[in-house]
Amino acid sequence: MIYDNHNRPITYLRLAVTDRCNLRCFYCMPEEGIKYLPKHQVLTFEEMERVVRVLARLGVQKVRITGGEPFVRSGLMDFMHRLAEIDGLDDLSMTTNGVLTAPHIEKMAALGVKAVNLSLDTLDRERFRKITRRDELPAVLKTLDALLKAGIQTKINAVVMEGQNTQDILPLAEMTRDLPVDVRFIEEMPFNGEGSHYPVLHWTHRRIVDEIRSHYPDLQKQPDPPFSTSATYQIPGHQGTIGVIAAFSRTFCGTCNRIRLTAQGTLKTCLYDNGVLDVRALLRGGASDSELTTAFLQAFSHRPANGFEAEQQRETLSGIPISESMSTIGG
Ligand code: GTP
Ligand code: 5AD
Ligand code: SF4
Repeated sequence: MIYDNHNRPITYLRLAVTDRCNLRCFYCMPEEGIKYLPKHQVLTFEEMERVVRVLARLGVQKVRITGGEPFVRSGLMDFMHRLAEIDGLDDLSMTTNGVLTAPHIEKMAALGVKAVNLSLDTLDRERFRKITRRDELPAVLKTLDALLKAGIQTKINAVVMEGQNTQDILPLAEMTRDLPVDVRFIEEMPFNGEGSHYPVLHWTHRRIVDEIRSHYPDLQKQPDPPFSTSATYQIPGHQGTIGVIAAFSRTFCGTCNRIRLTAQGTLKTCLYDNGVLDVRALLRGGASDSELTTAFLQAFSHRPANGFEAEQQRETLSGIPISESMSTIGG
């Protein structure tokens, strides 16, 4: 196992297989989309597989496939099949918007994909269309159904936004009554691809919990899994759990075991850094596995203790907001 310069183990890779997406969630990107990478700048699946093999030898045990939307890239299932066979990886998961996912779920279960996180901000078709700028709620609900039927552990991600979907907090939380899902409410973060400043956060962790408690006073705090980004709650008697990802009002940096590889092969050792290593250049420049290993170890020994605070300070001093989209970063 490899530890970083702050004694945090590096065991979890978030791998963005594409920066493209078939939705246009307004908190992630503008209506016209973001400027997508030309194909040759995106890592091939062979290149990604090689990086994962090297990282698995260094102690990475969990890979979460993200995007953009992973399923807009063709050949994804074959790639996942190859990843599933890598020694040392014991958790292959995915974050998807669920639009194209349903037909692949049986195969995912057969590959051993244990967990899928599904973005779903509302159960109302019109609000879904407004938030994502696409009319795809029925497809996403079909995916949810198929995931549960296949026995894949499912988390629902809902970004809570003032004036958009706060009336959905209760109906989403109530899904846990009969479904074994973890419904997670996320504080909105400033990654909408348009260079916006930190939004005024109307719906904090505390306010979200208060809203649920006002209807379910016996909502209970539950223990959180190690390295989790969400605080777990449960309504007694319900099958599923409720989570809050306080991405904004709390920092997870102290226990952060995550690194990210963007679709163009940039290594990020923190959500808020601009990329610390051009892995694509190394791969295409003919680097050996041991050269890749040395470069990764070097990057892991320079992780910020608290990237979130560093980013807030940077923005305060420079006045320049984050311009990236969550779709490029991989969430
Ligand atoms: P698991 O713990 O593996 O289930 O993943 P996750 O819940 O972190 O991942 P998911 O892709 O479902 O992302 C949910 C939300 O958490 C998104 O809004 C992410 O941007 C946010 N998130 C994921 N990793 C980090 C992180 O390192 N720091 C912060 N602040 N937010 C994160
Ligand atoms: N703030 C918080 N969460 C976001 N996501 C995308 N953009 C943002 C944002 N600006 C979430 C999506 C998806 C996950 C990977 O990231 O809802 O579920
Ligand atoms: Fe696509 Fe996810 Fe961004 Fe929505 S949040 S536009 S589903 S990448």
